[in-house]
Amino acid sequence: MIQQMTKEEKYAAVLPQVKALCEGETDMIAKMANVSALLHQEFGFWWTGFYRVVNEELVLGPFQGPIACVHIAYGRGVCGTAWKERRTVVVPDVEEFPGHIACSSESRSEIVVPVFNNNEIIAVLDIDSRELSTFDETDADWIERIVAVIP
Ligand code: SME
Repeated sequence: MIQQMTKEEKYAAVLPQVKALCEGETDMIAKMANVSALLHQEFGFWWTGFYRVVNEELVLGPFQGPIACVHIAYGRGVCGTAWKERRTVVVPDVEEFPGHIACSSESRSEIVVPVFNNNEIIAVLDIDSRELSTFDETDADWIERIVAVIP
């Protein structure tokens, strides 16, 4: 019988790949592009991508999945909230999150993780799922470790 990997096992396998992809690379956009592709492919998320902090707003960066909104203001939506509050935001049901920005009506749950370069947030990683309650503390812990490799 083929055993399904748990998500912990998947993240544990993905983290060294992220390190290998980012090692020696200085271009932040290239690293974000490969990290979004790797996570999207391995986990089969609905949307996986970065918004970068550019001129005091979030601007769409490398992503995998359907087209998405380009500009997000500080404090707006899940992404702007994670940026403002400087923390990972897990949303089990997007309809329950006041101010959620629906780039796709298919998204049901979401996680947004800030990317810190020293103490400064340079981007957020946003991952969307078509199922409710896809993300929890386990995802938050691992994705925080993954994005820490990027800067
Ligand atoms: N839902 C996000 C916007 C980005 S899209 O989901 C790709 C938010 O509320 O910030």
